[in-house]
Amino acid sequence: MTDRLKDKVAIITGAASGIGHATATRFVQEGAKVLIADIQADKGQALAQELGDGARFAAVDVCIEDEVKSMIDAAIECFGSVDCIFNNAGFGGVGGDIDATDLGEPYSRTVDGLLTGVIAGIKYAAPVMKAAGGGSIISTASVAGLRGGYGPHVYSALKAAVINLSKSVALELGPFNIRVNAICPGGIATPIFAGNLAREGGNVDYAEVVKPVLAMTQPIPRAGVPEDIAAAACFLASDDASFISGHALVVDGGLTAGAWTHPEFAPTGMNAMPELFGVESYDTLDMVVHGRER
Ligand SMILES: NC(=O)c1ccc[n+]([C@@H]2O[C@H](COP(=O)([O-])OP(=O)(O)OC[C@H]3O[C@@H](n4cnc5c(N)ncnc54)[C@H](O)[C@@H]3O)[C@@H](O)[C@H]2O)c1
Repeated sequence: MTDRLKDKVAIITGAASGIGHATATRFVQEGAKVLIADIQADKGQALAQELGDGARFAAVDVCIEDEVKSMIDAAIECFGSVDCIFNNAGFGGVGGDIDATDLGEPYSRTVDGLLTGVIAGIKYAAPVMKAAGGGSIISTASVAGLRGGYGPHVYSALKAAVINLSKSVALELGPFNIRVNAICPGGIATPIFAGNLAREGGNVDYAEVVKPVLAMTQPIPRAGVPEDIAAAACFLASDDASFISGHALVVDGGLTAGAWTHPEFAPTGMNAMPELFGVESYDTLDMVVHGRER
């Protein structure tokens, strides 16, 4: 580690688990002071204890505006400032086919958690950063915010909103030296995939269970891990990224680079050509070479 975040104070929401947990750990290793904010008090407190003087825990439900406001106050009380906020708390939210989407309480909570909580985090962090002369705001979006098919409909819509929110606010806050960026993770092995199974308890490590499937999802042949996103967040929070704002940083092992299917599944695109033509190998260079006098 490099002391990349020395003397910076960061708030990380959803830091009791997965991506937030790894990011809190990395930030403290890099010299930052971190307020771990989450609804899971037992896990959040345990992490704060593990990380020692560099971390404190605050019980926060990002769906509740007043709690987000108090979270900013808590960071100032504990560490004196807020240089970075990582709006990262999240969950899959209301799912199912579009004609069966429940627009009642589950929908409202999904919107509150995945979008309103992010807006509130930015709303209350911005004045503090303005007064301090700058800061870095990072929010976790998703590849689901870039393309259809990587998550439930409402989740996808809200993650797209987080990307555009970040761009929109980057324009307003740039003159105050406040950078606003989003991160779009691909498939990252965390408990988020367990959904209701995790809430029902048990000792199953769902992040481990999902790894073999995620390893086959994108060209880089391994599952994404929370540390991959922690590294991206660390970069965006650091002075190395001081000219980067309004950006959506994709960290997905090549998942959204283009059409790609794992060789063990039906091949698509250029990978389908050998099978289609009944040949062992297929090279587009031949098309050029055979058509020309050389
Ligand atoms: N894991 C992936 O493949 C993936 C991919 C793209 C985006 N994401 C996003 O990454 C973020 C982190 O997810 P993760 O994979 O680490 O999942 P996770 O379940 O391991 O962690 C999410 C954390 O958010 C907390 N949280 C949920 N609702 C909250 C609320 N209302 N207030 C405060 N805290 C709350 C949970 O308690 C949990 O600790 C989410 O925004 C998620 O949508 C994850």
